[in-house]
Amino acid sequence: MTIRKIKEGIYWAGSLDWDRRLFDELIPLPDGTTYNSYIVEGEKTALIDTVDPTKGQELVDNLTAWGGSIDFVVANHAEQDHSGSIPRVLTLFPHAKVVTNSKCKNMLMDLLLIPEEKFLTVNDGETLSLGNRTLQFFMTPWVHWPETMVTYLKEERILFSCDFLGSHLAASHLFARDKEKVFESAKRYYAEIMMPFRTSIRSHLEKLDALTVNIVAPSHGPLHDEPHFILDCYREWVSDTVKNEVVLPFVSMHQSTRAMVDYLVDALIDRNITVKPFNLIQTDIGELAKALVDAATLVIACPTVLAGPHPAAVYAAYLAGALRPKTRIVGIIGSYGWGGKSVETLSQLIQNLTVEVLDPVLIKGYPEQEDFRLLENLADEILKKHKALNI
Ligand code: FEO
Repeated sequence: MTIRKIKEGIYWAGSLDWDRRLFDELIPLPDGTTYNSYIVEGEKTALIDTVDPTKGQELVDNLTAWGGSIDFVVANHAEQDHSGSIPRVLTLFPHAKVVTNSKCKNMLMDLLLIPEEKFLTVNDGETLSLGNRTLQFFMTPWVHWPETMVTYLKEERILFSCDFLGSHLAASHLFARDKEKVFESAKRYYAEIMMPFRTSIRSHLEKLDALTVNIVAPSHGPLHDEPHFILDCYREWVSDTVKNEVVLPFVSMHQSTRAMVDYLVDALIDRNITVKPFNLIQTDIGELAKALVDAATLVIACPTVLAGPHPAAVYAAYLAGALRPKTRIVGIIGSYGWGGKSVETLSQLIQNLTVEVLDPVLIKGYPEQEDFRLLENLADEILKKHKALNI
């Protein structure tokens, strides 16, 4: 991919990774991703973030085709999909300095073996003059690592936000044009890596409110020349507001738990509650994470196997615990053959969530009339809790 002009003297020089289908060997990428690297020309010139090392040659080709010289490489984040090509850029421009905060510097020294003398460290609010342009750095820890920061180009009012406000979406438009698609990708991305740090993100958004931003230029996915779109999305996602929704990840071995799930789904629909069931054997875990962004309730449905919860449900519960959604209510339902500790194990996996755990509905074998009545009660209880939340 060749470089693309954003404004006079400001270019996108990154790489589109149409084919990538997994990130961190964990996160599905149904729409690929991009690694956005930006050239900001001035009397001195800065490169803001680099690309994944697998795409390093593309960045080198872009910079060679551009033909200028880089004086500063700004590292907003140490994770290798943005920092991994810094060593190649430093080989190309041996005089260049890596500009970052002290935490990120230490991480880059550990992860990429960049020598200390190559760094210029900056603090929160500090500026770096490029002559006719000025970069300002704001520390935004925990979006999504402790060292993350953003860079603001004061004259053009462009916010280079790295992972923050980004999306895993390879698209031919430089700017977000298909808003519906970008919304889904950005929400999924927020769910997968940002959601555990909701409170930190809220305070960063408040801090950034003081800036006038004309363009949000993240390091993944399309840029935003209507920044309120992505900023408003984030404001909603990090708020305490939850929706009248139940997320229902389930697994069933011999259809007993499945019969309970089907019954509960209908019972919730009857009560006008949106329900999102996910069959864990075939679900895209990113979709499950996305559904957890604003649902008021999570119900895990799980059979007992080898005296404990099915491993697929263990994974879902662990994920929910790790992602720390703003979910308020949790339920556990399922079937067992002769005993076990499914509820105890699942409860432990979500114990860091600030939630009310409803009475579980655990039944022996295939559900009978009395068991369906218990599921009716559970649906009633969820409705009551949602009403108490005014949703
Ligand atoms: Fe896109 Fe945290 O790296």
